[in-house]
Amino acid sequence: MYKNENENELRHVAFIMDGNGRWAKKRGFPRTLGHKKGGEAFRTVARACKNAKIPYVTFFAFSTENIKRPKEEVDTLFGLFREYLFDAEKYAADKTRILFPGDRSIFPPDMIQQMNKLERESAGFDEMTLSLCLNYGGRADIIQAAKKFGQLCRDKDLRPENLDEKIFSGLLYTKDIPDVDLLIRTGGEQRLSNFLLWQLCYAELMFTDTLWPDFGEKDLLNFVNIYKTRDRRFGEIK
Ligand code: FPP
Repeated sequence: MYKNENENELRHVAFIMDGNGRWAKKRGFPRTLGHKKGGEAFRTVARACKNAKIPYVTFFAFSTENIKRPKEEVDTLFGLFREYLFDAEKYAADKTRILFPGDRSIFPPDMIQQMNKLERESAGFDEMTLSLCLNYGGRADIIQAAKKFGQLCRDKDLRPENLDEKIFSGLLYTKDIPDVDLLIRTGGEQRLSNFLLWQLCYAELMFTDTLWPDFGEKDLLNFVNIYKTRDRRFGEIK
């Protein structure tokens, strides 16, 4: 999917969940506990988005660079993802469609199978689409889409001169979801960190010093209200 034709509508919110490590350090806990608390905040915020009737919600849970972190931290994060993936009964009750944008080949086979299964089995739910970006990188996404396009030109009827933004969007890991309307980053940094580079093209960007484990429904609703006051022009004069 592609551009939001109705600029006042909040269709897609994306989150960079930053600050887990600092949250833990401030309290004298290991970083891994910060991630555990971050996992709880993720669940709380996902539910808050559903309550707020936001149809598409995307979370940056593991970047293509995060694998370079110490093994103990990576193992903890994989453990949290595993726990979430196998919490299967919940999805049916939630009526949430789940997607896992990213290169899932680095995960153990049973986790990959479960991601595929959840995507397949939740495909019919239309109240909310939750994308959990795992081993995702904005540049890696663009490169894999370019490779796919090359293959389509080689093997099918596509031609390079016919490539347009719509076709390219349809080859990205996020092919089934619209461009981002609102990006929220916690933890005080003001950068994109290789998140949805293509899909954030006209997103409204909002930053907060609040560390991710402390971010909740009230903070979300506050940002949603600010979003409503923004004048989105998409490069036009309106
Ligand atoms: C960045 O904060 C956060 C991450 C690299 C991991 C995000 C993962 C979660 C919030 C857990 C998600 C869990 C599930 C079940 C989806 P940081 O650790 O870099 O924080 P710092 O900047 O304070 O060190």
